[in-house]
Amino acid sequence: MKIAMIGTGYVGLTSGACFALIGHNVICVDKDEHKIHNLNKGKIPFFEPKLSQIIKSNIKNGRLQFTNDINQAIKQSNIIFIAVGTPPKASGELDLSDIKDVARVISFNLNNYKVIVEKSTVPVRTYEKIKMIIDKNNKHKIKYDVASNPEFLREGNAVNDFLYPDRIIIGTENKRAQKLLNKLYQPIKSPILNTDIESAELIKHASNAFLSMKISFINTISIICELTNASIKKVAQGIGLDRRIGSDFLNAGVGYGGSCLPKDLQSFIQIADKLGYDYKLLKEVAYINQAQKERFVNKIKKVLGRLQEKQLGILGLSFKPNTDDMRFAPSIDIIKMLKKHGAKIKAYDPHAMNNAQRIMPDIEYCQNPYDVAKASDALILITEWKEFRNLNLSKIKKLLKKPIVIDGRNIFEPNKMKQIGFNYQSIGQ
Ligand code: UGA
Repeated sequence: MKIAMIGTGYVGLTSGACFALIGHNVICVDKDEHKIHNLNKGKIPFFEPKLSQIIKSNIKNGRLQFTNDINQAIKQSNIIFIAVGTPPKASGELDLSDIKDVARVISFNLNNYKVIVEKSTVPVRTYEKIKMIIDKNNKHKIKYDVASNPEFLREGNAVNDFLYPDRIIIGTENKRAQKLLNKLYQPIKSPILNTDIESAELIKHASNAFLSMKISFINTISIICELTNASIKKVAQGIGLDRRIGSDFLNAGVGYGGSCLPKDLQSFIQIADKLGYDYKLLKEVAYINQAQKERFVNKIKKVLGRLQEKQLGILGLSFKPNTDDMRFAPSIDIIKMLKKHGAKIKAYDPHAMNNAQRIMPDIEYCQNPYDVAKASDALILITEWKEFRNLNLSKIKKLLKKPIVIDGRNIFEPNKMKQIGFNYQSIGQ
């Protein structure tokens, strides 16, 4: 099958490369010439395990191409994925102008039957807008279908999530498009749920809203744990063993970040609002997430007293491990608050420091966790990178000015930390 993937952002690039890996011919399109030049050499613009290798080998075997020529890519393909960005506007609503632009270009290049698939996260019923644009310019009345095939890729695990998904959602209007898209995914042995387009569009927003809600829920339980001496890890384990609830996404911490959950939650609230429903539940989820970062800063203040001129060492900046993505990373808000209280910040992250430097040029960046600890009044962990779990904690203790560790992701064992002689504070335990 011939696929055009319009947009080589995180979603488009991973999906395009993986479609090539499972045997399809894929042309990935982007208007950024420099990016396409690099991609043709196998250089990817972000850190994602396994992806670069897949891109290089599929360029070599001829199944994967990168181009700026959107017109040719559309003409040569029978399935066109729209995977362009949908950035949030100030109101929280999604900006769909890139999607509409692509729909227009598709309409000018319809030379035979094509299925046009929404891959970007869009408000429910966006497909109607795409159809309106295409119908307006489709002078020769060439047959086409629009479909929705939302993605559930997690950054840092995107290749595995593509190849072994829990489910594949395919929303179509008729059997022809449904058959084609089911065939496309045939090499992947996961359940496919065929739906109408509206439901497929909604499944994406509902999934991310539910995940956000699960995280905010467990974060509120962590507050109750702190007030009662219960342990959040045990409580989460006890809840999660109930199969109706499930154990994933019950890690309490400093709140969720990233380019998806915060943005999708806000846009879902807006979508509901426009439909006439005041989504108070999701508003509270977002509020709890913001408050969790403030609670963490208050915890630091409680241990250290006045933060004026205190040297704080931060471990982990990316919004989660295994990515260099800093978008909506909790570290940004937390560091901003700490600086406002007069603290001096040193930080280290295994992969996100270049991106972090652009957003926070005015903090000190270190080469490793030990330099962060050196002469700091406290070590503060914000992102749970694997390498932090294996730190030489006795060495860390000697380097710190005071033996204080404040762990925003509960990666260390409280008893062990106490034994080493740390004043160890964490979340809900
Ligand atoms: C999320 C969804 O998990 C994907 O299914 C979806 O495809 C993607 O958004 C998207 O819409 O494109 P992602 O943003 O990569 O994926 O990150 P997650 O793994 O969901 O983590 C989001 C945030 O929640 C991170 O800051 C993480 O630290 C936090 N989190 C996650 C917790 O605080 N606790 C948990 O138990 C799990």
